[in-house]
Amino acid sequence: MDFIALLEKKKRGQELTREEIAFFAEGAARGTVPDYQLSALLMAIRLRGMTDRETRDLTLCMAESGHMLTPDVGGVPVDKHSTGGVGDTTTLILAPLVAAAGGKVLKMSGRGLGHTGGTLDKLESIPGMRVDLSEETFVRICRETGCCVTGQTAELAPADKTLYALRDVTATVDSIPLIASSILSKKFASGARAIVLDVKTGAGALMPTEEESVALAQTMVRIGTLSGRRVVAVVSGMDEPLGSHVGNALEVREAIDVLSGRAREGDPLTAVSLALGALMLQAGGVEKDFERARARLRGLIRDGSGLNKLREMISRQGGDPRVCDDTSLLPAAPVLRQVPCPSDGFLCGVDCTRLGYIAQRMGAGRARKGDSIDPAVGFVIHRRIGDRCRKGEPLFTLHARTPESADRAEGELLSALSFSEASCPKARLIWDIVDENGVYPLTGEGLF
Ligand code: URA
Ligand code: CA
Repeated sequence: MDFIALLEKKKRGQELTREEIAFFAEGAARGTVPDYQLSALLMAIRLRGMTDRETRDLTLCMAESGHMLTPDVGGVPVDKHSTGGVGDTTTLILAPLVAAAGGKVLKMSGRGLGHTGGTLDKLESIPGMRVDLSEETFVRICRETGCCVTGQTAELAPADKTLYALRDVTATVDSIPLIASSILSKKFASGARAIVLDVKTGAGALMPTEEESVALAQTMVRIGTLSGRRVVAVVSGMDEPLGSHVGNALEVREAIDVLSGRAREGDPLTAVSLALGALMLQAGGVEKDFERARARLRGLIRDGSGLNKLREMISRQGGDPRVCDDTSLLPAAPVLRQVPCPSDGFLCGVDCTRLGYIAQRMGAGRARKGDSIDPAVGFVIHRRIGDRCRKGEPLFTLHARTPESADRAEGELLSALSFSEASCPKARLIWDIVDENGVYPLTGEGLF
């Protein structure tokens, strides 16, 4: 096939055929089309867009560029995906909780990079936990316990690996068809038939405005339908960390707190988890009604079934399940420091991306792929946007490796927050739910 002719077509805004898209995806996966031509097509797609048919074909061709799982897990394999957050540990809560309700959560996760954390790194802070399972073990654990979370294999959507790396350095990340096909190709390849997406919106998110985030969510829902999968999405705000804990072992601890029912009333991490979990039960065909599903998940936290399921999943993946009862078995940082509120007033703004980078520099994340991380470090933030702060009250608790690291983080954290004397509104948490019937607001819990 003549790749220049294909570039000419997209340059003029014409629709590519399935064969042309397959050639592009295979070329990326096998290295048979040079990077400069792939990059030129990425930019043409970024500028000219793609029809839903093209985006569906690109998604399926990227999924089929590697090995595709067709797992028998004794139910509909359900996955969830967040487009990137700080202090967002919903997967650790949802995999066991949805499994406890009868869902089959089959999830391949990634590692943290830059300012966002990665579920694999969090799981690996649990002593003994394995996240490099073979496909067979992955599917078997899910079939037998209802959930399993492991790392993406090298064989998962190799076309996406090449294209995502190129997009990162060619200013072509922010394209709805490219984001939708990138995310969904990996979900389809890892065997999910029902997918719940948490599309983050706001500064630092893939899509900065609510309008664009909803458009991305709608595209992914439509691509799901066109590909014979059920895709539903929540559009949620990332104006501040979702949970109060940022850092790997710290986030595991917070997930255990939520599953133990120790989270406080109206806790945002719990609210988003319950909304996503209810949608997972609906998408997986376990529950019809959203409110019933949500009430059931609440009950499974209350009666300890969710935490029990986490114990089982950890133990099946080689980890020490006693962390669920005694979080002091998780790695702990040697330097603990309280950072007090600097003055009286209200917390009115958080530079969430900067908070993520501060945790990364403390050692919780990687600057480059392959860097090692420190599972114990990070911080807990004790105030949310809109909260009143009194001078001297605890604002952060730092968990640092060295006093110098704590000093630096303290200064940086304080400069990433803004305070005002007048009160300010809470940050909106869940903006919209998007499914094949349309876009509608979440009601009840989780509005804030
Ligand atoms: N995450 C992905 O996996 N792909 C994208 O394109 C954006 C976010
Ligand atoms: Ca193939």
